Amino acid sequence: MLLLLTFVLTLMSLSEGNFASATAITMSNIARPGCLTQCGNLTVQYPFGIGKGCSLDESFDLTCNLTYKPPKLFIGSGNIEIYSISDSEMRIYNRVAYKCYKASGNVTDELDAWTNLENTPFTFSQKNKFTVIGCDDFALIGGTTGAEFTSGCLGACSNANDVPDDGYCSGIGCCQTAIPKGLKFYQTTVLTIDNHTAVQSFNPCGLAFLGEEDSFQFGGARDLYNATEFYDRTIASVPVVVDWVIGGNSSCAQANTECKGNSFCSDADIGGYRCSCNKGYEGNPYLDPGCQGQIFNFKIKLYIH
Ligand SMILES: *[C@@H]1O[C@H](CO)[C@@H](O)[C@H](O)[C@H]1NC(C)=O
Ligand SMILES: *[C@@H]1O[C@H](CO)[C@@H](O)[C@H](O)[C@H]1NC(C)=O
Ligand SMILES: *[C@@H]1O[C@H](CO)[C@@H](O)[C@H](O)[C@H]1NC(C)=O
Ligand SMILES: *[C@@H]1O[C@H](CO)[C@@H](O)[C@H](O)[C@H]1NC(C)=O
Ligand SMILES: *[C@@H]1O[C@H](CO)[C@@H](O)[C@H](O)[C@H]1NC(C)=O
Ligand SMILES: *[C@@H]1O[C@H](CO)[C@@H](O)[C@H](O)[C@H]1NC(C)=O
Repeated sequence: MLLLLTFVLTLMSLSEGNFASATAITMSNIARPGCLTQCGNLTVQYPFGIGKGCSLDESFDLTCNLTYKPPKLFIGSGNIEIYSISDSEMRIYNRVAYKCYKASGNVTDELDAWTNLENTPFTFSQKNKFTVIGCDDFALIGGTTGAEFTSGCLGACSNANDVPDDGYCSGIGCCQTAIPKGLKFYQTTVLTIDNHTAVQSFNPCGLAFLGEEDSFQFGGARDLYNATEFYDRTIASVPVVVDWVIGGNSSCAQANTECKGNSFCSDADIGGYRCSCNKGYEGNPYLDPGCQGQIFNFKIKLYIH
């Protein structure tokens, strides 16, 4: 590694500024040969794959839609957009439900939200919280873990000045609750106690969403006042964390796991398993020949003006 950097730095200084910026270093066995590894700035690693024969099986097929600039990545051929993927988690874009009111209490605009991961190797992580924003709002979240699940949360306040703006969701204008392990489907609808008639001047809308707790900061009275701004910010910055496993219901104890050379298998507590490289090895544990030792296979790109 040090040797490589020295080599690049030497090249750069020799060329007296002809090399604008220097290197992109990439591990070589990310995907099956001939398969795309990039969609916009997202990296797609096997067992995920874009296009025929690129994934472990069809449940890991992704679509990169180049119509969008920059391109967008989706699960399967559906409409669940991917925010990022790591070796045990995937983040998908949030869906925010809302209901907005006139001063008279009539509804002006509303949207329900739901996401279905049933019949996929994906499960909503408990890193997500169900969050309700509003001064006269409660929302129910219903779903399935195999068993049915229903929960809810109430956001209440009578005055914009009561709402803390320290970033925390304390129940005043913002309410958060946990979800059960193994959730595969949820839907939510925002409901109201008094049609916002007492709070509409500083809080015209109620909103609800499932999303990563650590990515969310409550903006206080500003969030209660401007639902458009809140909605856009939340979609852009608060993804939904999804755990992924391979093997469906099978475990490491069963023969023929997908774990290749120099890797080990661990059972996931939600069923299925994952493979990881042994200590001191790197690469993709799902793809032959498996994880690699000392000698790394780097690609060096030099961009010349
Ligand atoms: C990826 O692209 C999106 C959209 O252009 C951008 O908001 C984000 O910052 C980029 N992420 C990285 C890591 O470059
Ligand atoms: C890409 O997105 C556009 C716009 O939403 C849509 O019309 C098109 O069918 C999509 N293409 C694929 C391959 O999904
Ligand atoms: C509000 O809704 C009621 C019925 O729900 C309707 O009669 C009334 O015209 C609505 N008012 C406005 C201003 O839309
Ligand atoms: C809220 O609106 C609903 C439907 O428009 C109506 O039935 C109900 O009476 C209203 N409640 C209050 C407290 O205004
Ligand atoms: C809400 O914020 C947006 C910017 O995100 C701004 O364009 C809009 O005017 C604001 N709306 C209100 C009611 O302040
Ligand atoms: C896993 O087991 C459940 C219940 O035992 C069954 O309904 C489901 O189809 C199985 N999934 C797979 C991928 O085998």
